[in-house]
Amino acid sequence: MDKLLISGGNPLQGEISISGAKNAALPILASTLLTDETMVISNVPHLHDITTTMELLGRMGSDLMIDERLNIEVNNSNITELFAPYELVKTMRASILVLGPLLARYGRADVSLPGGCAIGSRPVNIHISGLMAMGADITVEGGYIRARAKRLKGVHLTLEMVTVTGTENLMMAAVLAEGRTILDNAAREPEVTDLAICLNSMGARIEGAGTDRIIIDGVDSVHGAHHRILPDRIETGSYLVAAAMTGGNVKLKNTRSELLDAVLSKLREAGAKIDIDDTSISLSMPNGRPRAVDIHTSPFPGFPTDMQAQFTAMNSIAEGNAVITENVFENRFMHVHELQRMGADIKLEGNTAIVNGIKRLKAAPVMATDLRASASLVLAGLVADGETEVDRIYHIDRGYETIEEKLLQLGAKIKRIPSQQTRMPVSKARIVK
Ligand code: EPU
Repeated sequence: MDKLLISGGNPLQGEISISGAKNAALPILASTLLTDETMVISNVPHLHDITTTMELLGRMGSDLMIDERLNIEVNNSNITELFAPYELVKTMRASILVLGPLLARYGRADVSLPGGCAIGSRPVNIHISGLMAMGADITVEGGYIRARAKRLKGVHLTLEMVTVTGTENLMMAAVLAEGRTILDNAAREPEVTDLAICLNSMGARIEGAGTDRIIIDGVDSVHGAHHRILPDRIETGSYLVAAAMTGGNVKLKNTRSELLDAVLSKLREAGAKIDIDDTSISLSMPNGRPRAVDIHTSPFPGFPTDMQAQFTAMNSIAEGNAVITENVFENRFMHVHELQRMGADIKLEGNTAIVNGIKRLKAAPVMATDLRASASLVLAGLVADGETEVDRIYHIDRGYETIEEKLLQLGAKIKRIPSQQTRMPVSKARIVK
């Protein structure tokens, strides 16, 4: 397994470009299953989760072409396997996103139950009950969701919790359903809106994405289209926090500030000076060390759970004390134990972490446990005395495109120690240069 070695102490300086959003690219790749015609998706990030999704689509019979700028062309006119196997779903929960499109278009799907993961139990009951309300016959047998339907029917659903992939799965299913579907208490995340924009460009009739009521008028079929994935707000936020922690001065290009208002406002509270224009965000720290800031995670437009670990790392070296409350996932504090190994003063009480900022962390060997936890350990390494070794970084490769190259570009001292294994196999994909 690859490792990262990071020598702390360098303030980040300079410019980098932000990649397309993983959590938009995944449902949008799944949405291509709704049409026989060719879809072209651009600004797709080069990430392990994208490779896994392509592997999944390839096994179903998708014809995938990638050019060297990572535009992906997908043609699904020869889908033969309506099946998402456990071996892929267990490595990437977002595989559940093929359930809605497969069922809507082909009337059947066998998709492995994702099971729990490092950040919580993460059930998919809302995806299943929503599809059943639309007329699907669904049983769960041998760890698989076995779904069958004639044509799905539009319904009025009030989701019992705000769920991002649940909203996306039901929205995709409703595109080809008969009649009108109303999703109340829908997720408002920008990635849900990006998916709706893509679906509408394919001929779907969706209104209200970005609000908590999404209305979908079903159509008989949808067609091919070209869609550009929106910038990754979590990657953006992670590099901003890295700059704030190191007392740096960075400019992030190809991103959009309105995707992360809650994060920017917390960074300002921590003492950051932030300048924005249409496509970039710049951050500097006029007074050096950040001030501690309290965080309460909640669905968009609240503070994102996917930025909680990075702010925990920042608070661990900030001036003052902070209380961090994780309201979305029940077990998303695995990074705390690793940060404690680097000297952080953090107490855990249920879903709350109480952080007492100290001046400097000390390097230690640490282990990545999930994607955002790994990011927080890299950030901690950037400000620790000595050389931090972050192990199991395959987690970080799932969600951060070429992290060490981008950090090197900003002046960090970081090195990847590759394992002997080949990374990122892409079966069934043709790479076109
Ligand atoms: N939930 C249920 N039942 C369901 C669905 C969700 O109880 O049927 C609960 C979950 O257990 C959780 C809460 O609802 O407590 C919210 O979960 P949600 O369904 O919104 O999460 P998700 O769709 O599985 C997406 C992102 C996550 C991100 C969350 C929250 C993708 C592919 N994943 O997950 O991203 O943390 O929304 O914003 O979009 C990451 O990128 O690191 C990541 C984990």
